[in-house]
Amino acid sequence: VDVTIRHPTPSDAAALTRLHLDNRAFLEPFDPVRPEGFYDEGSQVARVRFALEELAAGRRYPFVIMLDGRIVGEANLSNVVRGAWHSTNLGYWVSERVGGQGIASRAIGLVCEHAFQRAGLHRVEAGTLVDNVRSQRVLTKNGFREIGLARSYLRIAGHWQDHLLYERLADDPGSAPPG
Ligand SMILES: CC(C)(COP(=O)(O)OP(=O)(O)OC[C@H]1O[C@@H](n2cnc3c(N)ncnc32)[C@H](O)[C@@H]1OP(=O)(O)O)[C@@H](O)C(=O)NCCC(=O)NCCS
Repeated sequence: VDVTIRHPTPSDAAALTRLHLDNRAFLEPFDPVRPEGFYDEGSQVARVRFALEELAAGRRYPFVIMLDGRIVGEANLSNVVRGAWHSTNLGYWVSERVGGQGIASRAIGLVCEHAFQRAGLHRVEAGTLVDNVRSQRVLTKNGFREIGLARSYLRIAGHWQDHLLYERLADDPGSAPPG
């Protein structure tokens, strides 16, 4: 499969709106409760513009995940802090319709390449819900190692929920499967 990543642009808003609407029920258990109007195209334009402001400020690397030239998901390296930390939080999702083909695994490999080889970061951290085995596979296949359980870590689907935290360091071997 031909998986690529790139930064989003405001002209992606229509495609992102459709994708979020299509995946609304699929993503709800894994996401914060979405604000009123999230599924309007105007909100998606604003969301992309904010992501690009964050990119310009060096605080975030936002990506859309593309399959054969169409957007099928998103990934973000957020909370980028330099100094003595040089670390970031990774988040991602891939459309239910194209799941199970290795797309997230490949995309996260590319995002890590960006983090370490282009952005010069030292560490990428990711947290999954404790029973999100599918997402845990995506991380471990990409060379992430489990750190441990963070209690009440994120407010997901309206509840503070425990997360398993994972990390990959710049000099850890990665192992993205072939695309
Ligand atoms: C998690 C998610 C990103 C996976 O995307 P994907 O493109 O289907 O992932 P891949 O195909 O690259 O890999 C999925 C892996 O999980 C495995 N898997 C799939 N369903 C599974 C299940 N129910 N239990 C255990 N493993 C499962 C697959 O077999 C595959 O592993 P393998 O390559 O060793 O066989 C996607 O389902 C998603 O966006 N889910 C909702 C949001 C989310 O969870 N985001 C991550 C938050 S931390």
